[in-house]
Amino acid sequence: MESTNQFLKPITAKRNESGNLEIGGCDLVELAEKHGTPLYVIDEATLRSICNDYKKAFSKYERVNMMFASKALCTMATSKILAEEAFGFDVVSAGEIYTVYKAGVDMSKVLFNGNNKSFDELDLAIELGVGRISVDNFLELDLLNEIAKSKNKSVDILLRITPGIECHTHEYIQTGHLDSKFGFDLTQIDEAVELILTNYKHLNLRGLHAHIGSQIFETQVYSDEIEILIREISRLDEKFGIKLTEINAGGGLGVKYTDEDVPPSTYKIADVIIDSLNRNIQKYKIEPPILYIEPGRSVISTSGVTLYTVGSSKQVPKGKKYVAVDGGMADNPRPSMYQAKYFAEAANFKEDLPLQTVTIAGRFCESGDILIKDISLPELFEGDVLCVFNTGAYNYSMASNYNRVQKSQMVIVNNSKSDIIVNRETLEDLISHDVIPDRLK
Ligand code: LLP
Repeated sequence: MESTNQFLKPITAKRNESGNLEIGGCDLVELAEKHGTPLYVIDEATLRSICNDYKKAFSKYERVNMMFASKALCTMATSKILAEEAFGFDVVSAGEIYTVYKAGVDMSKVLFNGNNKSFDELDLAIELGVGRISVDNFLELDLLNEIAKSKNKSVDILLRITPGIECHTHEYIQTGHLDSKFGFDLTQIDEAVELILTNYKHLNLRGLHAHIGSQIFETQVYSDEIEILIREISRLDEKFGIKLTEINAGGGLGVKYTDEDVPPSTYKIADVIIDSLNRNIQKYKIEPPILYIEPGRSVISTSGVTLYTVGSSKQVPKGKKYVAVDGGMADNPRPSMYQAKYFAEAANFKEDLPLQTVTIAGRFCESGDILIKDISLPELFEGDVLCVFNTGAYNYSMASNYNRVQKSQMVIVNNSKSDIIVNRETLEDLISHDVIPDRLK
């Protein structure tokens, strides 16, 4: 069965009678006029559809906690929708904790990850009742125990381990050790568990956590990851007599940025994970654990598009044609950071115009600020609206104010209505944190 992460465009994307692109029943040219550009647009129907795909896909296993990885997109409105869809949240900072808290999320369904959580962040997590903390290293064990002790509380934790699986999009390797900044190496787990059992009385170890990569198209890698997690749980039981009841398989399922990308469906991933769980529960003779998954990109990416207005163009003599838009690496740093590829279409009707191969350039002062290299589009002119697809994940969440440009607005569309969910920053916002010391006044 197909799932929404396998689509290039939001499920409601179509051309309307005027030939313009519409999403969620909203004409994108009208949206651009009303809200200005660059404009992030989230299609609620697509977001809810992928949530359903995840729910259906994992319904074959009784005990699954789906945690949305907020690092992909963290706004109060989208958090509210995801909470409605029965997702919990994987958060990695005080900012993400505070956002989901303010959105009214049940904090017992929040899991705090990260390789260098600060004292203040751990303190806030405990104060607000975050359900699980995935402890990453020895320092954190100590710090967390101290904080919990000072509050006379007991904290439920997972241990983040590096299972020795390195995953790239189209290949993966398994090694005994992994050179990674995250988590306990397989050889360090025993020492950590021993410390928890003997010294850290305020920490309640519930299970193990791993995350093997992002934009993953492989499936076997999840099967191997689950086996390692279960093998470790069984080994720890034998050695220390502790019954760990939870495993967290992390996130990573890929999406379709261009036609070349063929990600597996949520159904396929769920089957692989659940088969491996069932097989290895038998093999290692443990009770079926509670399974956590933490998908980010695959949940939110496809529902998002970004609208830009076309400005200047430049034909390099005997070279490329550049078409510049009013956004770029500050609202979508992925092409310049990771050479990520995107697909785009003109949102407005371009009747019978011949196709041209053009490079979509951003407006930021760097030659590397290119959004899309060599894409075939009908000739674009100043004022056209360009729609870049699959920008829901790791665009707004990684946006910056580079060149002192205001961060863009975000709207959510559904049933022909659009609502602002993040306001566009103003010039005043940009200077609101600046301070001129008295001696310079
Ligand atoms: N859990 C953990 C512990 C993670 O580190 C991540 C992502 C996720 C879950 C969610 O992974 P996802 O399902 O989104 O692949 N900025 C990069 C992606 C970095 C991902 C970091 N960790 C990008 O734009 O491609």
